[in-house]
Amino acid sequence: MTTPDPFAVDPWGVVEHGFDLAGQARAESVFALSNGHIGLRGNLDEGEPHGLPGTYLNGVFELRPLPYAESGYGFPESGQSVINVTNGKLIRLLVDDEPFDLRYGEVRGHQRSLDFREGLLRRSAEWTSPAGRTVRVTSQRMVSLTQRAVAAVEYTVEAVDGPVRIVVQSELVANEQLPLGDGDPRAAAVLEAPLAAELRHAAGSKAVLVHRTRFSGLRVAAGIDHVIEGPGRVDTTAESSEDQARITATTVLKAGERLRLVKFIAYGWSATRSLPAVRDQVEAALTAARYTGWDGLVDEQKEYLGRFWSDSDIEIEGDVELQQAVRFALFHVLQAGARSEERAIPAKGLTGPGYDGHSFWDTETFVLPVLTYCLPAAVNQALRWRHTTLPMARDRAAQLGLAGAVFPWRTIRGEECSGYWPAGTAAFHIGADIAAAVVRYIRATGDLEFERAYGLELLVETARMWRSLGHHDAHGRFRIEGVTGPDEYSAVADNNVFTNLMAQSNLRSAAESATRHQFEAAALGVDTEEAAAWRDAADKMFIPYDEKLGVHPQADGFTDHQLWDFEGTPPEKYPLLLHYPYFDLYRKQVVKQADLVLAMQVRGDAFTQEQKVRNFNYYERLTVRDSSLSACTQAVIAAEVGQLDLAYDYTAEAALMDLRDLGGNTRDGLHMASLAGACIALVAGFGGLRDHDEHLSFRPRLPSGLQRLAFSMAVREHLLRIDITHATTTYTLLRGGVLPILHEGESLRVEKGRPVVRPTQTPQTPAERAVQPPGREPARRHGQAGVQVGTVDHLPAE
Ligand code: BGC
Repeated sequence: MTTPDPFAVDPWGVVEHGFDLAGQARAESVFALSNGHIGLRGNLDEGEPHGLPGTYLNGVFELRPLPYAESGYGFPESGQSVINVTNGKLIRLLVDDEPFDLRYGEVRGHQRSLDFREGLLRRSAEWTSPAGRTVRVTSQRMVSLTQRAVAAVEYTVEAVDGPVRIVVQSELVANEQLPLGDGDPRAAAVLEAPLAAELRHAAGSKAVLVHRTRFSGLRVAAGIDHVIEGPGRVDTTAESSEDQARITATTVLKAGERLRLVKFIAYGWSATRSLPAVRDQVEAALTAARYTGWDGLVDEQKEYLGRFWSDSDIEIEGDVELQQAVRFALFHVLQAGARSEERAIPAKGLTGPGYDGHSFWDTETFVLPVLTYCLPAAVNQALRWRHTTLPMARDRAAQLGLAGAVFPWRTIRGEECSGYWPAGTAAFHIGADIAAAVVRYIRATGDLEFERAYGLELLVETARMWRSLGHHDAHGRFRIEGVTGPDEYSAVADNNVFTNLMAQSNLRSAAESATRHQFEAAALGVDTEEAAAWRDAADKMFIPYDEKLGVHPQADGFTDHQLWDFEGTPPEKYPLLLHYPYFDLYRKQVVKQADLVLAMQVRGDAFTQEQKVRNFNYYERLTVRDSSLSACTQAVIAAEVGQLDLAYDYTAEAALMDLRDLGGNTRDGLHMASLAGACIALVAGFGGLRDHDEHLSFRPRLPSGLQRLAFSMAVREHLLRIDITHATTTYTLLRGGVLPILHEGESLRVEKGRPVVRPTQTPQTPAERAVQPPGREPARRHGQAGVQVGTVDHLPAE
């Protein structure tokens, strides 16, 4: 039953027909459900077979030592790793004593589907046991977007022939055994039994387990409760041991009869609250979920998602596979951020343990720009999380001999967890990335209260860091030396253009914010002299330029480096980081991911159009896209310089990263930055959105493969709809009074009820398509044939 590409194309969901044992881990990531607080991988109800069992709670991690062969001052000593918490989604089934297990007996049918409008993972299976008994199992699973602590499963087993004895064991299991890692540095460290038992309780239809992590000291409570309905006598028992609690229902079904079980699951955790407090929190969440009931939870979920899609959908005509992929992307970005509430949004969301569950700049540079215009409250929360980590960031700055705050390159709680400083601590641009997200959020929402209470301090402390990290040279130029930009195949370089331009914005924004909020700024110790020093550093920021080649070097001297031997690098040697030493990558011209090209997107105002064209062509030849954070940015600038078909190819690559497992590591979790990046590629690439000035500005253009692109943006009290065809672009205000915007540089005022229509420009196509390193060209999208189109089959909901 193995299919090379397990997911059929459908504009509103993902469907898997059949059951592919080898592709389990990948499907578990794709079918992961989350609300940003709880994350459940799409493991089968019965738990086995599995690729990688996974249940995550945002912020729950264990500490582990970071050993160094040679230690050095300021190296972080302890790492944080996301842990697989108590599994509450397990429902084991015995059919006349034989475990329901897809590896045995006969699987007569198996289908799973995830519908983006309902937020439910549905499954149906028809299975004949080795002894010849046939049952039909259907289940629906959700992680509630409205009740943050709650997940639920509706599980039905029907006897096809009978009578048959059915035993359903609904469980909570802590310290599940995990498969060993494969040594990929991007996967997670596997921690043995991280949870120590504190309390267990099972009675009637309910059970609770409380555990504590051994070293990070976090208390985790998980609870389950059930509604069980069968046609005749159903006996239930409840039992618990240290790492397991089980409610068992036993009955005999005649042919055509069904046993239905609704399982409510609740989680709570705390670093400070007492055991009874955390237990009570979980019990209360269970009671509330039971009160709402399965149907109520389903209705709430649909209503929440209905609102989301009506305000935030991205519609595409001409490419149904891309349409599916971009909705998949939006759905998972929503799931990652919806209820994370003062916690980080990890690079994989809560879909898998990849990168140890850490958050990086991925959040502020890729995920938050999308959420800003569809779920600004989530951005507020994510940035408030950064704000809560300021004390740690200040300590880190002090340890490094710097002023202000140095935010961690990778972390769960707030401390630096990168054991490799050249691509960790030295990536100081994270500070400016956070500042840019703060500024974007404030500009888009007008949330001055946030600016006063949180934003200002984030801007001030990062500006202080830049002022102390850089210096004015003998010519007065402000230089930032010894830092690592986004491209991780270069490190510890001087005057990385991306970093310097982002720092420049950071310094200016801090000065402007301090002027807007003088009282609060004074309370933070900012005086006119300090703000003037920030402005001065920004005005004198040094941006290297190679006059001979007419391009910007990514950092000082970059364009003088030896070229990487692309011709002599066979395809199986990618990603290069797994096959070549960093010392060699660092000293040559080879680019892992958009760096200078990203600078041209986020600071487009700092480059002329001619520079953009030349720079883009230059860096295309060097960029191998060994990071999934690259294609989306290349798409945006390809579109800006008129290479629309290339932009289309890159957009599809970013969007299909996980649905088609392009990086080969979807099993460890979804690539949130690439998913968000796909939305950015469409909106900033083909929509031509730039948001670095007061008003949103658009330069819409479509590749020949697409007939239409439409999206909406929430800006303050407004909801703006942008509808692009090859002929025209229509701006419609769906909410709010009047919104000034720019179209191709022309100022427009869009009023409610009076859509503005403008011709869509067709940019001059450059004579030649930009060239990539041999073998690293993106797959051509235009005119692609043979896309398999299917539909999400809705399984019976009872
Ligand atoms: C990329 C980083 C990124 C990290 C997590 C790395 O491969 O180079 O830019 O932050 O992955 O997604």
